[in-house]
Amino acid sequence: MGFFSVFVFLILCSFEKDIAVAAISPEPHLLPHTTHTVEVNSLLPATTCNPSTKGHTNNKATILEVVHKHGPCSIFHKSSKTSTTKGDDKYHAQILKQDEARVNSIHSRLNYRIHHPFTQSAATTLPAKSGLLLGSGNYFVTVGLGTPAKQLSLVFDTGSDLTWTQCRPCLRSCYTQSEPIFDPSLSASYKNLSCTSATCTKLSSAVIQHGCSSASSSCVYGIRYGDGSFSIGDFAKEKLTLTSTDVFEGFLFGCGQENEGLFNGSAGLLGLGRNNISLVEQTAMKYNRFFSYCLPSTSSSTGHLTFGKGGGSANGVKFTKLTTLSKRASSFYGLGLTGISVNRRQLPVASSVFSSSGTIIDSGTVITRLPATAYRALRDAFREGMKNYKMTTSISLLDTCYNFSGYKTVSYPGIAFRFGDGVTVDLDPAGILYVVSSSQACLAFAGHKDDTGLGIIGNVQQKRLEMVYDVAGKKVGFAPASCP
Ligand SMILES: *[C@@H]1O[C@H](CO)[C@@H](O)[C@H](O)[C@H]1NC(C)=O
Ligand SMILES: *[C@@H]1O[C@H](CO)[C@@H](O)[C@H](O)[C@H]1NC(C)=O
Ligand SMILES: *[C@@H]1O[C@H](CO)[C@@H](O)[C@H](O)[C@H]1NC(C)=O
Ligand SMILES: *[C@@H]1O[C@H](CO)[C@@H](O)[C@H](O)[C@H]1NC(C)=O
Repeated sequence: MGFFSVFVFLILCSFEKDIAVAAISPEPHLLPHTTHTVEVNSLLPATTCNPSTKGHTNNKATILEVVHKHGPCSIFHKSSKTSTTKGDDKYHAQILKQDEARVNSIHSRLNYRIHHPFTQSAATTLPAKSGLLLGSGNYFVTVGLGTPAKQLSLVFDTGSDLTWTQCRPCLRSCYTQSEPIFDPSLSASYKNLSCTSATCTKLSSAVIQHGCSSASSSCVYGIRYGDGSFSIGDFAKEKLTLTSTDVFEGFLFGCGQENEGLFNGSAGLLGLGRNNISLVEQTAMKYNRFFSYCLPSTSSSTGHLTFGKGGGSANGVKFTKLTTLSKRASSFYGLGLTGISVNRRQLPVASSVFSSSGTIIDSGTVITRLPATAYRALRDAFREGMKNYKMTTSISLLDTCYNFSGYKTVSYPGIAFRFGDGVTVDLDPAGILYVVSSSQACLAFAGHKDDTGLGIIGNVQQKRLEMVYDVAGKKVGFAPASCP
């Protein structure tokens, strides 16, 4: 099986962490209070889908519909045994456990010297499938691939670069997906890349590896995720159809012949990271590295992913500087988070606590992670604001949970992020609690063991905000309530 033996141990070089220096910024604008009062029912997902967007191109931008993987809008919903609508705490415990696995994998990409066990033997001796799907707290969009175009639902991920899908004949293995598996032999536009091409060599990075198929001298890729899941296959060119007017010839992607673990149900992954191979970079000529998205407040509504300027609510966007934490973290979107306020009161945490570990924003992480000191202060302030409610048991990494049963409406503190350039962003009311059921609603933040852990702004906190990525302009923007 020369096909798979091309992967060799990779020793990652140690690297120097660039430490963002935070500027001292003015006090945030003071308002009387920002407590949110919401109906308990509105926090719980509905059982029917209320779609709000359909994929289309207006004269300025290309808009795709964003759907929560396990909500009623999802094509996976009917077949799925688990459903967010049941408030099943085993299901939620699993999502949170998967979220831990993702965060661990981000840390291992950034912080440690790793011997990547990416060899044939390692791939076959991976621990038995954990039975977990890392992407289950995630969102997906549908794109067309090939000629004629086949529709594929892909998890969209700002934390990774390579776009891949499972491919027939699934030489080694494919997991179960909802749509038919992509078959390159039925596409007139599919092309393997030669393994001597510069494009093949360009693949190599900490997480993506390349090699040469002994049979056809074509380029082979391998990508491995933190929990041992992986995709290996042909690195190829294909026609990518986002909408009827936005078609990209020769889009580079992974045609996975051996896929395991992560993305059960969805056909693969749409990489929106910052490295050359990502969709953002490959479509730079058309969209100039500009995209935005809105994640819906519950799994029963839909959001949007928009490429190009001029989509949706361009008004009221507050931009903060996009940073790169380190060379190894270069595919992540770094932000200069320096403080957090609860009901407009700044937490008593030095900005250096945030800036020394650095912060990224990631569409694939569910719960926001903070340095230990910052999380403790946030939790204390939040609990203080919630002292009229009965606390209930923790779930997984969430330790500040309330029992809202018997309440029609509840009030909870507003939370805002402050960035080094003085920008303050209020989270949407939907971006504060992780609601397991009406009797268990938890503060959707978690702390690292100490202050060295990377800050990660997760997707709960991004809910309903228009998240604007102007990569060419080196800034990321936030605008309030742009989807249901
Ligand atoms: C993947 O989906 C199949 C079929 O729906 C199911 O049998 C299997 O348990 C799922 N695997 C995981 C890891 O959830
Ligand atoms: C692409 O390369 C693989 C081997 O890696 C081969 O099996 C397949 O037939 C090739 N496909 C085309 C269209 O050349
Ligand atoms: C990405 O592309 C740019 C421009 O072509 C090039 O300068 C840079 O070295 C590339 N980076 C990687 C990691 O290949
Ligand atoms: C929540 O409160 C209700 C009413 O007070 C009670 O019946 C229920 O057992 C509580 N549930 C939990 C999980 O604490």
